[in-house]
Amino acid sequence: MSRSAAAWAFAVRWRWYLCVAPAVTLLWMLYLLSSQYRPRVVAQSHSLSADNTTSITPVPAFPGAGNATLGFEAILALSPFPSWRTTGLQAAAQLTGLDIQIPPQPPINPELVDAFAGLGPEDARHPNHGSALAWVAHLDLIKHVVQSDFETSLIVEDDVDWDVSIKEQMVGVAEAVRRLTKTKDENVETTPYGQSWDVLWVGLCAETWDHDFETVFIDDETVISAEQYVGLGKAPVDRLPEGRRAVFYSGAPICTFAYALTKAGARNVLLDVGAGKDEAFDISLMNGCRERNLTCISVLPELFRHYIPSEKVGGSSLVNAKGDDSNTTVEEEMGHTENILQSARCHALWGRPCLA
Ligand SMILES: *[C@@H]1O[C@H](CO)[C@@H](O)[C@H](O)[C@H]1NC(C)=O
Ligand SMILES: *[C@@H]1O[C@H](CO)[C@@H](O)[C@H](O)[C@H]1NC(C)=O
Ligand SMILES: *[C@@H]1O[C@H](CO)[C@@H](O)[C@H](O)[C@H]1NC(C)=O
Ligand SMILES: *[C@@H]1O[C@H](CO)[C@@H](O)[C@H](O)[C@H]1NC(C)=O
Repeated sequence: MSRSAAAWAFAVRWRWYLCVAPAVTLLWMLYLLSSQYRPRVVAQSHSLSADNTTSITPVPAFPGAGNATLGFEAILALSPFPSWRTTGLQAAAQLTGLDIQIPPQPPINPELVDAFAGLGPEDARHPNHGSALAWVAHLDLIKHVVQSDFETSLIVEDDVDWDVSIKEQMVGVAEAVRRLTKTKDENVETTPYGQSWDVLWVGLCAETWDHDFETVFIDDETVISAEQYVGLGKAPVDRLPEGRRAVFYSGAPICTFAYALTKAGARNVLLDVGAGKDEAFDISLMNGCRERNLTCISVLPELFRHYIPSEKVGGSSLVNAKGDDSNTTVEEEMGHTENILQSARCHALWGRPCLA
């Protein structure tokens, strides 16, 4: 296994530890608590803001978002090499009728990674080597998106999972995004989500939300209950009305399990987060969203989340320094995915749900 592959495997694992590490939780809470970092609430709201009594029940009048690429021009997976991650990804995609491309990832010179990590003055925040590698890989894929001139695209990390009803869920999300951005239905066939946003954050592990956020709710019986929901998004999920998913202008989303970009959004993201100077790609993107340099929309509870393999794959052991299991292509034992009721990976690989 090459050095960059090992570093990548570490980055993927590190990402998971970022999500659970109490120190990071504390840091994130401080972000939210300090008034300077309070998410700005969009002012021009006229009717949907704080209105938690009405919601949309998606009717498939415009089922465009229910196609094999979920209404985006393409779905692209970020993946350095074939592994149990891509095996499960492709099995889940096949089961749910999705067309996911895995573009070959260009090699990344370790010196480039170090140079990227060192960008900016000394007192700026700097990513560690693993985070810098993952960050550069995301930028490479977004450059590919720009070069391909996609109207919209969905980028997923290769260990991502989703619900077997993802197509129906996304039809509702598309309708909610159009409502939130006050997009007319005239181009709904070609751009079901409209074009009035940069980043549509459908796979996050932390967010903030409160009643005064401008929000469109979707009635969705596939939403996990607040009691069952785990992770850093728990506090806002507890505040959401039961049985509804919220679509709103982002507060402080973290983790890039899955995010969509418009054509302009891909360029804006490259300009906004392309120069390093933060802890990690997702933190930098979150800052761009929070400061409203980017127009970002979040979906909570999330629709995509990373799959956690069983101990046998070793994916949940930080002390497994050798990392020699990361190119295992077959899982021997079922893992699980938090917050996704009917995991597409578990159904595809083991024929049953995996959430207890
Ligand atoms: C799905 O719909 C989008 C939006 O109309 C379109 O760009 C894309 O090509 C469609 N995907 C497939 C597989 O037909
Ligand atoms: C609806 O929003 C109001 C504040 O605008 C809040 O007090 C109330 O608890 C919310 N209801 C639900 C079900 O979330
Ligand atoms: C956001 O934009 C402002 C002005 O355009 C700029 O000063 C600031 O550095 C930007 N923030 C980020 C995180 O790029
Ligand atoms: C990982 O894959 C490489 C080739 O892609 C192979 O040479 C190596 O033996 C594999 N390692 C393990 C532990 O399977």
